[in-house]
Amino acid sequence: MSIAYFNGEYLPLDAVRISPLDRGFLFGDSVYEVIPSYGGRFFLLEQHLQRLERSLAAIRLASPHEPSQWRERLEGLLQRNGDPATPDLGIYLQVTRGVAPRDHAFPAEAQPTILAMVSPIRPLSETIRDQGVAAVTAPDQRWAHCDIKATTLLANVLARQGATEQGAQEAILLRDGQVTEGAASNVLVVVDGEVITPPLAATVLPGVTRSLVLKLARSAGYPVAERNLSEHELRRADEVWLTSSTREVLPVTRLDDQPVGDGRPGPVWQRIHAAYQVAKSGAETARPALPSEGMA
Ligand code: PDD
Repeated sequence: MSIAYFNGEYLPLDAVRISPLDRGFLFGDSVYEVIPSYGGRFFLLEQHLQRLERSLAAIRLASPHEPSQWRERLEGLLQRNGDPATPDLGIYLQVTRGVAPRDHAFPAEAQPTILAMVSPIRPLSETIRDQGVAAVTAPDQRWAHCDIKATTLLANVLARQGATEQGAQEAILLRDGQVTEGAASNVLVVVDGEVITPPLAATVLPGVTRSLVLKLARSAGYPVAERNLSEHELRRADEVWLTSSTREVLPVTRLDDQPVGDGRPGPVWQRIHAAYQVAKSGAETARPALPSEGMA
């Protein structure tokens, strides 16, 4: 059983008890992050913590910790889950508005609930690297603040389930004829050698992976455009990619049962995937030694 961090303590995940009155449970009144770590080192932790602060501010929840305190707590979590057999871990961190009698308005007094837990991240399989993945399009039925990383994800869940039922890995969401993002990923395309992705707006989560991939594409000399991307352009793109902290850069080779480009992961994806692996190998902070007194 993996170890979780829960309100100041480290304990086995199955020993964590969440109150039925927790506003995260009752209202989805909470925000989250998913932070990758490779070989015990965080990857882009600072960017994830900045986005967490942004999400907390957007839902008017005072941040319970400074960035250095978050780092310390998450490092403690990595130390306690340092199994050499699963060296790559995604850290799920959720902050809710806390426990209070059920009332939609904010409680006068409540302590935020903080939960962090880990799960293994697997490298992209050879099959995916050779053959890519399938995606389907779906209407974007989410709310008007998709730039907040809120746990209120029912529309995303339904879209992803629809994709799964059609044998696809992801749903690419369309709003007013334009691509917004995936159910749990950002969408980028390549058209005539140019890397294009929808601009940051309330309809798109500012993905940490998206941002890195755009940087890697620019460094590799590809023109990059952050602009509206129509359904028509999506369907005629040479390459389609999905980015997220747990799935890196996924090449989509079938869209709504039609091949994307020649139906194989494209040359620009090959280049960016390789650059991403190099970036990962320089992941930030080494896993510090476990304190001798055990669990804090
Ligand atoms: N989701 N858009 C949505 C709606 C997402 O849920 C995610 C990630 C992304 C990509 O963001 P990033 O590159 O910062 O991971 C875009 C996480 C992984 C999840 O919900 O599990």
